Amino acid sequence: MVAMDAAFQRCIVPRCGATCDVAETAFVCPRCGGLLDVAYDAARLRVPRALREIEGRWADRADPLNFSGVWRFRDLLPFAPPEHVLTIGEGQTILQRADAVAGYVGLHPGRLFLQYEGLNPSGSFKDNGMTAAFTHARLVGARRAACASTGNTSASLAVFCSATGLMRAIIFIGSGKISYGKLAQALDHGALTVQITGDFDDAMLRVQQVARRLGIYLVNSINPFRLEGQKTIMFRVLEALRWEVPDWIVVPGGNLGNVSAFGKAFHELVEWGLIRRPPRLAVINAAGADTFYQLYEVRGLRWNGGVLDQTLIDGYYAELEARNARAATIASAIEINRPVNLPKALRALEQCGGVVREVTDQEILDAKAKVGAGGLGCEPASAASVAGARKLRQEGVLSVDDRVVCILTGHQLKDPTATVAYHSTDQRTFDEVLGQRGVKRATFANRAIQVSNDLDEIIKAIELYS
Ligand code: F0G
Repeated sequence: MVAMDAAFQRCIVPRCGATCDVAETAFVCPRCGGLLDVAYDAARLRVPRALREIEGRWADRADPLNFSGVWRFRDLLPFAPPEHVLTIGEGQTILQRADAVAGYVGLHPGRLFLQYEGLNPSGSFKDNGMTAAFTHARLVGARRAACASTGNTSASLAVFCSATGLMRAIIFIGSGKISYGKLAQALDHGALTVQITGDFDDAMLRVQQVARRLGIYLVNSINPFRLEGQKTIMFRVLEALRWEVPDWIVVPGGNLGNVSAFGKAFHELVEWGLIRRPPRLAVINAAGADTFYQLYEVRGLRWNGGVLDQTLIDGYYAELEARNARAATIASAIEINRPVNLPKALRALEQCGGVVREVTDQEILDAKAKVGAGGLGCEPASAASVAGARKLRQEGVLSVDDRVVCILTGHQLKDPTATVAYHSTDQRTFDEVLGQRGVKRATFANRAIQVSNDLDEIIKAIELYS
């Protein structure tokens, strides 16, 4: 086991604060059962004097570590020696100025940016975290790795296992709860795919039990090393903005790994003297999977110095249970009612002055169509960020000149079913996929035109519609 001296794991609950070695893989506090952070001993940390210094590494892209959009920032997640890092070229993603979408959101031109994580090797932001978890798994000598997933974590795990040949992927998915694009990836990349009767929340509970029993390395975002990798999404956003901090980061919320990672990233950058203030964070739930919104905005749950109101949380979950309420949204990636990173997400909102909103499937799909028409393709969950920004703008929480970054977490081709149904000319297809979920109209549909196989008719139709 070769880890960097400065790194260890520490319980996030301040009144506990128990620490354990980097080599531990239980991913829960040995004393109180709380979540763990990867922490660094400030005295031994070697962070650059300014973030700009990291840019020099662009010039040396032949080095796989400098090529990686995660490991280029290795000084800011120094838990493994560089020679132990496992990378497949993740993090080559872009921040795109999106004026057409800005108009839809209600922002002035030049104020909205989309961080397109769909460009990762497996097509979602998960690869940022997976390279970090894989590096840790390799440090501890793991041979098998498992996750529960709504599809993207499993796709990423499957890609990393097949690309490196170092581990066997075991993935747990709820039956019928994963889009075809993502299921295709798991199968094509040779993962052992376990479909259990139930949904993501059921699968998440089971995979933790199985991982513990069989000693399998867990790569869900309860794994704090995953979140170290996901911090770099924010580093790349800052890099693309020439190291200026935006006013808002807007991100979809599912298991709440991203918001937790982003909060930690900004907290550390402030602590290490690399930025002066964090941006504000907005987390967007789907209305059919809105635990975070309900707990934070409706019931007032707060981080409260790490002393969470557990009675409030338990009461909420007991209500869900009593109603037999299950998460239900077209944005299947965030169809989650029991987010494992809830405490870390509360901490992130506290540190960054955050808010939570919920958006309907209708709002998500309309925003997704606008994102697509604006030049980037994303899956439904990703578009929740844009729908949420629009809502926050309408409420006046965002002002028209705020600089806003929405995270597009996954690629359009992850879930073609939702997209095709939205644009479909066939009412039955629309009803089957979307109508059932309360989506009433495809507000911005781009419908294929039906023309008979006749040259004159084809030309007439093109002249009419173009
Ligand atoms: N967007 C996409 C495309 C996702 O796949 C996920 C999570 C999220 C947003 C939510 O991110 O969990 O960090 O709040 N997908 C997980 C999975 C749960 O299994 O692929 P989060």
